[in-house]
Amino acid sequence: MSELSQLEKLRQEALEQLRSVSDQVNLEQWRIRYLGTKGALKAAMAWLKDVPRDQKPEFGKRLNELKSVLREAYEASKAGVGKAAPAAAQIVDVTLPGLPLRLGHRHVLTSTVEEITEIFARMGFSVAYGPEVEDERHNFDALNIPPSHPARDELENFYIDQRTMLRSQTSTVQIRVMEQTAPPVRIIAPGRVYRPDAVDATHYFMFHQLEGLYVDQGVTMVDLRTTLDQFCKSYFGPDVKTRFRASFFPFTEPSAEIDIHFPDQGRWVELGGCGMVDPNVLEAVGYDSQKYTGFAFGMGIERMALRKHGIGDIRLLFENDVRFLRQF
Ligand code: DAH
Repeated sequence: MSELSQLEKLRQEALEQLRSVSDQVNLEQWRIRYLGTKGALKAAMAWLKDVPRDQKPEFGKRLNELKSVLREAYEASKAGVGKAAPAAAQIVDVTLPGLPLRLGHRHVLTSTVEEITEIFARMGFSVAYGPEVEDERHNFDALNIPPSHPARDELENFYIDQRTMLRSQTSTVQIRVMEQTAPPVRIIAPGRVYRPDAVDATHYFMFHQLEGLYVDQGVTMVDLRTTLDQFCKSYFGPDVKTRFRASFFPFTEPSAEIDIHFPDQGRWVELGGCGMVDPNVLEAVGYDSQKYTGFAFGMGIERMALRKHGIGDIRLLFENDVRFLRQF
C-alpha cells in the first residue's frame, strides 16, 4: 500500500474513532493516540523517507491537511463531549404561561399573638417567656395553690415525674419574672400550656394562653378593669362590651372572670380570668405586699382567634390544612 493510501486510511480510522468517544477521558486518550508527541501523526512523518521522490510534495501537503483536520475535529469534540443533548422534556417552552407562586404567610395563631402583643405594648407591657417544662413551685406552690387543690390532680396534668410537668397555665411566668425582677413589673406572657383534655371542637390537649401582670405601688382593680376593656375594644372592635363576673382563683384576691359581648350576638362569652395579685403570691417571690399591689389576668388565645375570625372548631388551628390556613 502506498504511503498516500496509508495516510488516507489513518484519516478514516482516526475520525471514526473520534465519533465513538463518549466522555472527556476517552477524548484525551484519543488525543494522545493521534495528536500526541508519540502519536500516529508523528509516526506518519517518518513514512516520508520511503515516499518516491516525485510524490514527496503531495505527501507533505496531505500530511499537513490531515494534521489540521484532526486538530479541528478534536477541538469540536472537546466542547460537546459528555454534554448530552437535552431530552425533549427538558426543553423549556418560553411561550407557556407561568405557574402561580403562592406566597406563604404567618399562621393565624402567630399573627393573633403578634396583634395582641402590639396592643399591650402600646399600653406599656413588655413580653416575657417561660419554660414549658415546669416544676411544681412555679406551676402551683408560689401561686398559692394548696397541696390538696384539685388542679394538682395527676389526671388534670401532664406530669413528667413527681415534681416536673408540662405547665398547665402561663401564670408560671408571673413567678419567674417576679423572682428575677424588682418591682415595678408590667409584662404579658404568651405561650403554650398543656392539659389532658379530651379533644373536641372547643378543647385541645395543648393551647395558648396570654398572661398579664402589672405590679407597682398603688395599682388597683380600676386599672385592671380599664386595661382589659381597652384591650378588648382594640382587638375586637370599639362596639364590644366587657363585664367582670366575681370568681375565685388561688393567686388573685379578689378574682373575676371577664366576659365579652358583641352587639350582633345575643350572649356573653367568657374570655379569661383575672384579679388582684394575692399578697401570698407577692410574698412568695420576696415582694413587700404592704408596699406593692398588682393585677394579673390570663386569657385563652385560641378562644380570641376563633371569636375574631368566626372559626367554629379549635382543631382547625392545629391540623395545618393549607386550604383553611390560606384564608387568614
Ligand atoms: N391561670 C388561670 C387558668 O389557667 C387563668 C388566670 C386567672 C390567670 C386569673 C391569671 C388570673 O393571671 O389572675 O385558668
